Amino acid sequence: MSLSAAKLLRWYDRHRRTLPWRALPGQTANPYHVWLSEIMLQQTTVTAVIPYFERFTRQFPTVTDLANADQDTVMAAWAGLGYYARARNLHACARRVADMGGRFPDTVEGLRALPGIGPYTAAAIAAIAFGRPVVPVDGNVERVTTRLFAMTDPLPRARAAIAAQAARLNDDPVAHGRPSDFAQALFDLGAGICTPRAPACALCPWRADCAGLREGIAPTLPRKAPR
Ligand code: ADE
Repeated sequence: MSLSAAKLLRWYDRHRRTLPWRALPGQTANPYHVWLSEIMLQQTTVTAVIPYFERFTRQFPTVTDLANADQDTVMAAWAGLGYYARARNLHACARRVADMGGRFPDTVEGLRALPGIGPYTAAAIAAIAFGRPVVPVDGNVERVTTRLFAMTDPLPRARAAIAAQAARLNDDPVAHGRPSDFAQALFDLGAGICTPRAPACALCPWRADCAGLREGIAPTLPRKAPR
């Protein structure tokens, strides 16, 4: 099969977005920054998150600073982002990590055990901050995957099958070699090229490999069961 991680990574090297929580090429990501950004991005767009992320990291430069702040100060810094349970879990998680010496666990299982960290967020932090070869499956990655493989079975029923197929993207040893970039390349592909409506297939590094494009159904995927 010609679907290759190398094509995606080559595209990412040329088009990667500069985001305040992203490490520069060749540098390692700060786990605190990756965790904070992933929690903020759970229900909020990248554009809305950026100023909050920058203010937060100025106000609380380390996870221990965040842990030591009082709840009211944290809630005030979060005000406007919504979904306030996230802020309470954020603070609880910071305290747990501070109790562990300020170091985040570096495995999916260790991360999963922390407040506010579900399977997606654990995989995202493990891949981006710690280079674990896992594919975090969010809505972007579901869309890319269903289109690449022309998966027409509707959500939510198809969710597990989509996740299994997405995990297989990582079987390519080239993806394995750059898990952090590979995960972020999938996010950027989903956000900038493989968009929900009118995807820019002509610009896609995987255009020759996409079964959805070949079959003319890419923009209709993923299908959703009628509610
Ligand atoms: N969405 C979720 N995590 C992201 C990340 N690290 N970069 C861009 N978009 C994202």
